[in-house]
This record gives sequence, structure tokens and C-alpha cells, in this order.
Amino acid sequence: MPFGSLCHKFGDMRMLITGATRGLGRATARAAGRRGAEVLVTGRDPEAVARVAAEVGGQGHVLDLADPAAVRAAVPELGAVDVVAANAGLQIRGGPTTTVDGVEETLAVNVLGHVALVDALLAGPRPPSRVAFLGSTTHDPATPTGTPAPVESPDLGALARGELTTSGPQRYATTKLHCTALAGAYAREHPEVHWSCFDPGLMPGTGLARTYGPVARLLWATVLRGVAVLPFASTPARSGDALARVLLDDPAPGASGAVVDWRLRPGVVSARAADPAFGDAVLAAARGLVAV
Ligand SMILES: NC(=O)c1ccc[n+]([C@@H]2O[C@H](COP(=O)([O-])OP(=O)(O)OC[C@H]3O[C@@H](n4cnc5c(N)ncnc54)[C@H](OP(=O)(O)O)[C@@H]3O)[C@@H](O)[C@H]2O)c1
Repeated sequence: MPFGSLCHKFGDMRMLITGATRGLGRATARAAGRRGAEVLVTGRDPEAVARVAAEVGGQGHVLDLADPAAVRAAVPELGAVDVVAANAGLQIRGGPTTTVDGVEETLAVNVLGHVALVDALLAGPRPPSRVAFLGSTTHDPATPTGTPAPVESPDLGALARGELTTSGPQRYATTKLHCTALAGAYAREHPEVHWSCFDPGLMPGTGLARTYGPVARLLWATVLRGVAVLPFASTPARSGDALARVLLDDPAPGASGAVVDWRLRPGVVSARAADPAFGDAVLAAARGLVAV
């Protein structure tokens, strides 16, 4: 279905959200539910999935993005999906840690699991009409964020082995570069679908800092919430509402393949993320790593 034909009422739309059990994903589920969309809450913790699904009046399904084979196996059970918020993400201090497949976990969850999910949905009988990946300004070395610059190599095999990166924050920024580039790569390959990379801004207080030390966690949960008034910062509620709009508004905010931020304005895109050859290489390498 061409994205221009997304003229249904929101109530006709079924939105799959990955990592919808807390933080931005849960806020997006709430916002989408308020807008009348049918929400498919997914996550890796069955109890949390059931709790949030009940809260938003949606359905729930366990989907562990760290396991691409399980993701692919689950897709036929999900039913029709109109729009996808590829939201799940983590940042692991220390490490690297690995999945059951021996893949570095940040790359596996933030990037590879979503590629497996999206490709399985695209191959199904009724592909989604819109997909939003989750980016972050940390992917851009030209924007000062306090996070180490990402590794700009498309060698996802080396990254999957825990090579090339030197810290958890750098692994995180690297995966956010991949997510930003993937929106463009998928948009070139599937022009019949509308693709976005959503930058939610800095949202202190979410679970993203849970592997940090006690002082950093305390700051993230308390004092840093005050920065929500600053121009680069937001809250899960505000950004969740914006992400729901990226997937439900007609017309979609932003061109297909573009970065849209929490103010529904064009977001930051690094030179590397904007390079089509890099994006296509990242998508091909990700597919190679999740191949059956
Ligand atoms: N917070 C920020 O300042 C910020 C800024 C820019 C971008 N982002 C992006 O926003 C997205 C949401 O982050 P957040 O801040 O809301 O963090 P969060 O509160 O930690 O939420 C992350 C969600 O992802 C889920 N998740 C983690 N590993 C998973 C797996 N293997 N399979 C399925 N789900 C998994 C988590 O589930 P569990 O509870 O089971 O772990 C949780 O529901 C991420 O993509 C992040 O990169 C956040």
C-alpha cells in the first residue's frame, strides 16, 4: 500500500511497538492508544508486556530482539501490522556482553533484531505502510553530546564480535548511526513504504541508563530530568506523542528516509549516515548476520 493512501482513521491502524514495556516505548503505546490506534505491545518480559498491553487496552506479544530466529518465528503470530515503532534499545556500560548467538548485545538488539523483524514483516502477506527506527543525536560526531563518536565502519561482523569499539556508549552511538542510515537504505529499497528515523531528544529518567553506576543513575533519575526545558531535551511523554504522530499523522511528518525529531522537525543527520553507500552496506551486512 503506498503511504499516501494512509487516510484511515487512527482506529483502523494497528501499531507494533518494540520495547514497549517502559520509557519511550510505553509512552508511545499510551499516546497511540489515546489517538485511537490499536496497539501491539511487544517486549522481552512477558509480565511487563501483559501489564502495559492491559493499561493501554492493546494486545501483547513477547518479542526478544536479541534472538532474530525467535523474532522471525513470532511474526506470523502477530497478525496484520500497519505501522512499526522499532523502538527497543539498550546501552550497556562496560562489556561487551553477548547474546545466545554470541553477538555483541547492543548491535543485536538495537539493529539486528529490528532488521530481522522488519524484513519478516515486509515478506509477509500485508507489509506495513510505515516504519520508524530510533536514532539519537549521539550518532553525529559533529554534534557535541558527551558520547564518544561512533565507529563509522560498515563492518558489522567485526562489531558483532565486539571489535572496533572501545566502550558501551560508543557501541550505543554506533548502533544509532546504523539506525539512522537504515531509514535511508530501506526507503531506497522499498519506496512503497514510508520510513523514518525518529530522534526523541535527551529523555532523562528512562531505563536507558540502568547499567550505569549508582551516581549516574541517581542523576539520570532526578536532577537531569530538569534539563527537559533545554532545547536538546524532552520527556518520554512528549517524545512518545511525537513518535505516535510520525507513524499515524496524515501526511507523515518528514520525507521517507529522513530523520524527524521530537518537535516533528528535521533532525540531525551525520555525513556518514547520509551516505547511501554506507546505508546500503549496513543493511546488507545486517542481513548477512541475521540470515537463517
Ligand atoms: N532516553 C534517551 O535519552 C534517548 C535518547 C535518544 C534515543 N533514545 C532511544 O529511545 C529508545 C527507547 O529508549 P528509552 O530511553 O525509552 O529506554 P528504556 O526505558 O530502557 O526502554 C528500552 C526498551 O527496550 C526494551 N528492550 C531492551 N532489550 C530488549 C530486547 N532484547 N528485546 C526486546 N526489547 C528490549 C526494554 O525492555 P526491558 O525493560 O525488558 O529491558 C525497554 O522496554 C531506544 O532505542 C533509545 O536508543 C533514547
